[in-house]
Amino acid sequence: MRHLLSTRDLSREDAITLLDTAGQMAATQEREVRKLPTLRGKTVVNLFFEDSTRTRISFEAAAKRLSADVINFSAKGSSVSKGESLKDTALTLQAMGADAVVVRHWASGAAYQLAHGGWLHGSVLNAGDGTHQHPTQALLDAFTMRRHLVSDPTGADLAGLTVAIVGDVLHSRVARSNVYLLHTLGARVVLVAPPTLVPVGIEPWPCTLVHTLDEALETHEIDALMMLRVQRERMTGGGFFPSPGEYTRLYGLDADRMSRLPDHGIVMHPGPMNRGLEISAEAADSSRSVIVEQVANGVAVRMAALYLLLAGEEGAS
Ligand code: NCD
Repeated sequence: MRHLLSTRDLSREDAITLLDTAGQMAATQEREVRKLPTLRGKTVVNLFFEDSTRTRISFEAAAKRLSADVINFSAKGSSVSKGESLKDTALTLQAMGADAVVVRHWASGAAYQLAHGGWLHGSVLNAGDGTHQHPTQALLDAFTMRRHLVSDPTGADLAGLTVAIVGDVLHSRVARSNVYLLHTLGARVVLVAPPTLVPVGIEPWPCTLVHTLDEALETHEIDALMMLRVQRERMTGGGFFPSPGEYTRLYGLDADRMSRLPDHGIVMHPGPMNRGLEISAEAADSSRSVIVEQVANGVAVRMAALYLLLAGEEGAS
């Protein structure tokens, strides 16, 4: 594997290798000295054209724990705001000797373009491109589900699990990445969204669709309930739902709906949360919530991705 652009490119074996390697990385993070020498001498550039908190610092922590040199490049305050193109930015990074570029961009397809434009020699890791893909988020979600819901997680996939993904599917790269990865790993995916937040052309996606959260809770035994953020910054033009109160009434997770999950059911959210809109504070902070753990697992998963792309066959240290 040279790049990590989309969960659609991952075979079951690739995904299992990533998750197993993340498990090994997580184990190293419990040691007193958490830094591994594996990527010493390599340069990882974090190229962020869109705001991010957890994904950027998570990739930065992952690269640093593997001893890579990290350069953070945010479009704000750089020549990009003077109109520099993606190509010229890429040529600059190549001239600086980037071994890997972690890219987040507002345009769907930007990561693919960076990987296949012929401008960079290194690996490209997609940290979110428009509404398209966010593969490391789906991998950290699968890693978290495996830890909580699979009795012997070594080498196992997620066969037999039911995962509901709820809310603003239309604007969500997290939903798209999860639908394909979860399907590859054998889980059943139920999407829950108002008709106005369902993407056109969803029919071939490997999942089923229901239109209210109550219906999903009634008709399925849900092992993992993944709430999506309502992405108001992408809702130009408005009209996606009548009012925030109406959205919460049909799609919000509160204590009552949470109590309809099976005993082992977990609650997830990629963050950042709109507390009180798609999820109540009670649900977000409950003992079923693994939201903070998702963030911690993100570092191990990104260490695994960087390691597998950059250290290749050279062997772990
Ligand atoms: C997600 C993203 O940026 O796509 N957040 C994240 O990476 N943790 C989801 C979101 O912004 O709603």
